Amino acid sequence: MSIFPSDKPVLVTCGLPYANGKAHIGHLRTYVPADIYVRSLRKMGQEVVFVCGSDTHGTPIVLNAEKLGMTPTELVEIYHSHFNQVFKNLNVNFDSFGTTHDSTNHNRTHEILNRLIEKDYVYSKVIEIAYCPSCDRFLPDRYVEGVCPHCDEISRGDECDQGCGKHLEPGELLEPICTICRGKAAYKDQEHYFFKLSSFQDFLDTYLNQLGGTLNARNYALGWVNKKLDDWCISRTLEWGVPFPGNEDLVVYVWVDAPIGYIAFTEEWAQANNDSWEKIWKGDSRIVHFIGGDIIYHHCIFWPSMLKGAEYTLPWAVVASGMLKIENKTFSKTRGYVVWVDEDYLDHGFHPDLLRYYLASYTSHTKELNFAWNIFQEKINTELVGVLGNFIYRTLLFAYKNFGEVPEGDIEDDVISKIKSIIYEYREFTESYEFKRSADIAMSLASYGNSYFQSKEPWKLIKEDKDACGVVIANCLQLVKALAIIFEPILPEKMEILWEQLGYNSDIHLIQYDEAAAKIEAGQKLSKPLTLFEKIDDSKIEQMEEIASNRVKVADEAAGIKNKKSEEFKEKKVVNYDEFSKLDFRVGKIVEVEDIPKSKNLIKLSVDIGEDKPRQIVAGIKNQYSLQELNGKSVVVLVNLKPVKLCGVKSEGMLLATKENGTLIVPEKYDCSPGSNIC
Ligand code: MF3
Ligand code: ZN
Repeated sequence: MSIFPSDKPVLVTCGLPYANGKAHIGHLRTYVPADIYVRSLRKMGQEVVFVCGSDTHGTPIVLNAEKLGMTPTELVEIYHSHFNQVFKNLNVNFDSFGTTHDSTNHNRTHEILNRLIEKDYVYSKVIEIAYCPSCDRFLPDRYVEGVCPHCDEISRGDECDQGCGKHLEPGELLEPICTICRGKAAYKDQEHYFFKLSSFQDFLDTYLNQLGGTLNARNYALGWVNKKLDDWCISRTLEWGVPFPGNEDLVVYVWVDAPIGYIAFTEEWAQANNDSWEKIWKGDSRIVHFIGGDIIYHHCIFWPSMLKGAEYTLPWAVVASGMLKIENKTFSKTRGYVVWVDEDYLDHGFHPDLLRYYLASYTSHTKELNFAWNIFQEKINTELVGVLGNFIYRTLLFAYKNFGEVPEGDIEDDVISKIKSIIYEYREFTESYEFKRSADIAMSLASYGNSYFQSKEPWKLIKEDKDACGVVIANCLQLVKALAIIFEPILPEKMEILWEQLGYNSDIHLIQYDEAAAKIEAGQKLSKPLTLFEKIDDSKIEQMEEIASNRVKVADEAAGIKNKKSEEFKEKKVVNYDEFSKLDFRVGKIVEVEDIPKSKNLIKLSVDIGEDKPRQIVAGIKNQYSLQELNGKSVVVLVNLKPVKLCGVKSEGMLLATKENGTLIVPEKYDCSPGSNIC
């Protein structure tokens, strides 16, 4: 039985996107179902607030801004407005979309931390932090790379994203490397602040066992709680973030202030709407977090403990989505398995509702979802066009042509009870986060409509008995009305158009489920129907597939080049300055050039290196330079290389040139006299 509507206000949130890159389909896997859920709850008459915002802190943003030559503030602004726009385009309608860099969030974070400090849940301790001796700096989170102590995978910073997925504490990574200079990092003492997570073990055990949402979230978290929980380091040596209260040299760890954003954005919503945020975060409410399956640990372990410690209302449900695949390959931006929401989808003229339908109906929310263009085409063409669109269009067209308005006629009991039972099940599925089953059951109402239309043969009846035909069409229109209401959460824009075509001027988004079985008014004017859904051509899909495969090709090539280079680097041992300084490099001037006819590539040179007489050096650059060109050139020479004979000719040194194409390395700017030292 449905528990909505209830007097308890509902808050729905979505995991905050990092304002550090563009929106892709992976993001939408969380946001679209959350939006469907919110719209559905509203159709049940439930009061719901829906908030989200940009996650603006943390080291990846600082590193990326550095790389792009911007300030973190500038970078964050770009992606904040990008996400805001993408969500609008997809009709994911947040009541508030803030940023964690707003003062509301800074203040709320300070309030919560001060409360935790006051209640003795925070203590300071000197710990070993990764430190890079050559960059002379501490290495928080993404600044350090190493081996995960839990699963042995290579992982970056604070999260084992390639391996077990666990959050990693500072100092935990084995064999740390500085990500700025790739040099070996050391560990060095520094004072940091810790949250006493260990004292929430019993609380979490009880809490998680009654937590709502999807089972993947609860079970994953219980798995960790059943082991021993370590205290959690909540400060970082960084300049970007929320300053740590009482220690301005440090900032708060991003995973502290990010979820606090959920509260801050509720405050901002309340402020703008003259409502109360306390009724949600301090009162008896239902807080539902929609998140990706990779951040369960943070939402089911850290976050409830922080809220409990600071005496806020605890989340009622955590809904975690499953993995995403692109063309059956594991989603990966670097490997090219990604579909960007704007450049790969919206910019090609695809309607947002089609993607919403795909995401909702492909598979169960917690399972792996594969996005492939041919499946997309198939689902749209057979389900949205072939079943839903077909029933709606044939009904509207027939009604418009023959009646011009909703004809008189009683609605059959069977039709009403079909609508009622489907709505009942639809609500049950949505409440249990089974969005695929919701979409399927809604689609079954359209199939029912098609069979109804087919079996009643109105195209024959119209010639024999117009009134009887009118009754059939009134029943079909009743089904179309119900479909518009039941599909609004999944297809909000298309159903808005349909609602108008049915002659309504009310707002479909505010219409409740109960209205679906209420009789459609006879006499309501119908407008000339438009096709709501159109078939997607093979050629369009081929074009999209080509874009996708090119992207993978480019990524493969880039990865190939990078791998080769880094293999080469790995093979070469690191040298220290002492070793390097044994090599004596000097500026030399070529004073004589002579061919070695029996060699294909070698020539004999006399090079003045500042000694009393020029050195004889053999170099393999015959194919790159003419003899005249070389005469008089300044070059770089390794002068203490052990003399060798090449092609029978003695060589007392080596010119520096690139291995790839034998281009000579020469003094770049000033005229350097022969013998000048190089170091
Ligand atoms: N930005 C994080 C991510 O993309 C999610 C933050 S969710 C919050 O993984 F709870 F911290 F807000
Ligand atoms: Zn370094």
